[in-house]
Amino acid sequence: MQDFSQRGPRQIELMAQAHRHMPQGVAENYRYWGDERTVFIESSKACWLTDCDGRRYVDFRLGYGPIILGYRDERVDAAVVEQITQRGTLSGFATSLDAEVVQQVKAMCPNIEKMRFANSGTEAVMGAVRTARGYTKRDRVVIVEGGFHGLYDEMMWKSDIEHWDPTGSLPPSVIPFGGGIPGQARDLVELIILNDRPMLDALFRQRGEQIACVVLEPIIGNAGSISATAAWLQRLRDLCTEYGVMLVIDEVKTGFRVAKGGAQQLYGIHADLTTYAKAMGNGYPVAAFGGRAEVMDVVGSYKGGVVHGGTYTGNLVALSAAHATLKILEQTDALATIDRVGAQIRDLLGRVFSAAGIEYAFAGPPAMFGIHFTPTVPSNYRDWRVTNSDLYRAFAWKLIDHGVMLEPDSREPWFICEAHQALDLGWLEEVATLAMKAACEEARRTVR
Ligand SMILES: Cc1ncc(COP(=O)(O)O)c(C=O)c1O
Repeated sequence: MQDFSQRGPRQIELMAQAHRHMPQGVAENYRYWGDERTVFIESSKACWLTDCDGRRYVDFRLGYGPIILGYRDERVDAAVVEQITQRGTLSGFATSLDAEVVQQVKAMCPNIEKMRFANSGTEAVMGAVRTARGYTKRDRVVIVEGGFHGLYDEMMWKSDIEHWDPTGSLPPSVIPFGGGIPGQARDLVELIILNDRPMLDALFRQRGEQIACVVLEPIIGNAGSISATAAWLQRLRDLCTEYGVMLVIDEVKTGFRVAKGGAQQLYGIHADLTTYAKAMGNGYPVAAFGGRAEVMDVVGSYKGGVVHGGTYTGNLVALSAAHATLKILEQTDALATIDRVGAQIRDLLGRVFSAAGIEYAFAGPPAMFGIHFTPTVPSNYRDWRVTNSDLYRAFAWKLIDHGVMLEPDSREPWFICEAHQALDLGWLEEVATLAMKAACEEARRTVR
């Protein structure tokens, strides 16, 4: 029996060492879970992580979504190794693989006519927004409360939901994600509420002609997969068309995961521009933005063309990984397997919550579902605020203590990969039952 409840000796050592070399002792902010809890990983395989003290976890966090097949998938790794040992990583010149990967994307995503590459979701969003501005010759951008679009200044504004009083009449205030975001960036950004039709209509009536683009995740991968209704998304599509606004669908989390054609396939609605990253490369850093040819053709190195580029853009580590991953996703039933396993996991968790007498609702598709302790599925970020996210957090920590890795925040969905099909679901149900029991006991003690 592994003991997950105590800090391991190596974790203590690595954390102390890391503090001497990196702010907060981590390579990026989101990995810091406190000195006691920050996880140091030694290795990964299939759906498993092994930490620096040799403890094994089944992983539903999957690096915030990129792992779609499984860690160290031999089919993808072999293609990358062949590329880097036989042909090279980058030269700063074009290769035949560039258009080949775009054709693979086009075969699955009819919303893409032309595409360009990027190295991260953040960069893909920057490229899409700049292209939308270049095409429309407008500056304003609209985002949706609860969404996340990377670490780009104008996308770094959010509703301060934690300090908002849901029983009052005031909306949450809009704040930057943190320090270093210039106040001027706020002037170009509007926030709207998902599924709020009157707010959407009013915004377009008042400002429609100044808006370059609306950027959204129809299935909010950063708000527990709370999803747009088909009717609301269609209304948004229609208004964008009427006012000449670019609809940018951010499929960084949903792309090549919720369906071969991403969220747009599920809704049957096409964006003008789309961003991809994460699942596109099964963990290798590849991203892209693309869309209608007429819109994408404003990108170019001619006078007035939209600037896009970068030393590592379309590097061959990324493209060979994307090529191999997309081939598997297109030609095998990996995504159908993920859907089946995700639905089974949702069902077993539902049994655990019902047995514990907890009201719950799942949001989003089986490949990335959110769990909300509330009687009805939240329809926007403000609804999320009144879910019992404290109980979820306690449940998540208890799961981690039983060797199930996930983000201890109900805004992060459970990610499923193909390798989860080999998981013993009976064991998962057992540990989820124990974790729920412990979380409920803890909640009762806190109330007393
Ligand atoms: C929807 C969405 N867009 C953009 C990003 C930014 O991607 P990256 O972290 O690769 O920069 C993320 C990251 O989680 C995301 O979830």
